[in-house]
Amino acid sequence: NPAKPLAGKKVLVTAGGTVERIDPVRYITNDSSGKMGYAIAEAAKRMGADVTLVTGNATADLPAGVEVVRVQSTLDMMDAVLARFGETDVVVKAAAVADYRPAQRADQKIKKNDDTMTLELVKNPDILQTLGERKTNQFVVGFAAETNDGERYALDKVKRKKSDLLVLNDVTVPGAGFGTDTNIVRIYDEAGLVEALPQMSKRDVAERLLGLVAERLNASARR
Ligand code: C5P
Repeated sequence: NPAKPLAGKKVLVTAGGTVERIDPVRYITNDSSGKMGYAIAEAAKRMGADVTLVTGNATADLPAGVEVVRVQSTLDMMDAVLARFGETDVVVKAAAVADYRPAQRADQKIKKNDDTMTLELVKNPDILQTLGERKTNQFVVGFAAETNDGERYALDKVKRKKSDLLVLNDVTVPGAGFGTDTNIVRIYDEAGLVEALPQMSKRDVAERLLGLVAERLNASARR
């Protein structure tokens, strides 16, 4: 069915920013609005997929007709994704995942005391890389938001994280990246640039990206 190229596929999308708790009233997060990931979940639904959206902190309106799993921390997101990975056909990791979390989470509000305070952070696991290492038949798509040397980082990430596709957006360009309704992306695979898209709505970016995913899924099914 050409109108529903993802019919019968289970698509899992992560979106939003993760929230890393410092104490009961404080946390570390980032500027992710969730718009790109939510647009991907919506597009996957329109294209016939069975969609699960694992979402961190986001301001965008939740799409209808998809299963929504709310998470806070990177570790929670990792658990939610890994629990479903075995039965998933396509994973799109549009979430802005915190690279570090507080080493300790205080049970009580931290009191103001000395003139300086140090917050120790420890590295979070890389969810995308873990999926890349564990995948059997799943198609895995990563995102990268960069301010400089985007192409070099994108190519490095797609290989190191064993992703099937990697979507790069330059977050310094107006009309791209966090919070906007449009995006300007370049899509890579391990062989190099696949597509450079002009500025378009996140809805259109989502459709182009998933169109490419469907094409590649069908090509490998025919082989
Ligand atoms: O942060 P980075 O640019 O490496 O993110 C690239 C991709 O890796 C994104 O798809 C992001 O969701 C994913 N990622 C992840 N776990 C992390 C860091 C990033 O899954 N700890």
